[in-house]
Amino acid sequence: MELEELPGVGSATAEKLREAGYHSVEAVAVATPAELAAAAEIGEAVAAKIISAAREAVDIGGFETGEKILERRKSIRKLTTGSKALDSLLGGGIETQAITEFYGEFGSGKTQIAHQLAVNVQLPEEQGGLNGSAIIIDTENTFRPERIAEMATAVGLEPEEALRNIHVARAYNSNHQMLLVEKATELAEELKDTEKPVRLLIIDSATAHFRTEYVGRGTLADRQQKINKHLHDALRFGDLFNAAVMITNQVQARPDVFFADPTKPVGGHIVAHTATFRVYLRKSKGEKRIARLVDSPYLPEGEVVFAVVREGIRDA
Ligand code: GTP
Ligand code: MG
Repeated sequence: MELEELPGVGSATAEKLREAGYHSVEAVAVATPAELAAAAEIGEAVAAKIISAAREAVDIGGFETGEKILERRKSIRKLTTGSKALDSLLGGGIETQAITEFYGEFGSGKTQIAHQLAVNVQLPEEQGGLNGSAIIIDTENTFRPERIAEMATAVGLEPEEALRNIHVARAYNSNHQMLLVEKATELAEELKDTEKPVRLLIIDSATAHFRTEYVGRGTLADRQQKINKHLHDALRFGDLFNAAVMITNQVQARPDVFFADPTKPVGGHIVAHTATFRVYLRKSKGEKRIARLVDSPYLPEGEVVFAVVREGIRDA
């Protein structure tokens, strides 16, 4: 369905919406009237009507029976990280239909975990995989095919084949990054009935572009709204394709702030509300890393040690 098919959306409005990043009826359906009004230069009342028509068209925002939700939750699968300790912290691995956020300072292992998951997702379920392919939105140009090949070989996958099952797009700015979630949806739709349906979406880093583009107090609310929308789009991707969503978020260790809780990222609270699992990573001796599960709704908080080694992510 095209934007123009929504009542109240003419070609000029549709054009403005697209320019502002609203490329689909779904994107409009999850917008707020204020956002949409600003994007399309229309009144909020008109925006609200458009949103409500979009919601009806794509059938979201309504009620579902508990039975239907239970049915969908039964299809949740878990993807191994490569470390039994880290898996157990997460209740068996990273879950599909959820966002798992790994945050920590530079070098804490976020990108290494992302690479390992993109490899592991291809494994059969008996080996902790999801027999699927991966999509990576790379915002910092840190995807390394050589590293994938190394990790793939270590788990017994053909390196070339492993690389064929990883679809990488470089995001040039936050707007482009948001658009890429939509592109990912299109690609996943295409691959849905193939041997390797998309079962993992990685956004590494989810927050870097937003941080550099939105500086100063005045733009903070705007930034958080955008991140919020971005993560909801990602979560929706997870629901649609029964895929796991892994995002990374760099936070600075703050030795200067003596009494501050280092596990609470500065300005990262909007991410906290959407990410279903949040794992705080910190460096330890040499290859060792410490992972702590933070604010989980139903798993106990805890800490484990794992290692980043030549083969990839392993138990320490
Ligand atoms: P930022 O993106 O800068 O915030 O950091 P990050 O958390 O993504 O860190 P990343 O995952 O890139 O971790 C980099 C660290 O992983 C390096 O400092 C090494 O300690 C380790 N590492 C990376 N590649 C290898 C490897 O091939 N072998 C081993 N043993 N360790 C590696
Ligand atoms: Mg990184």
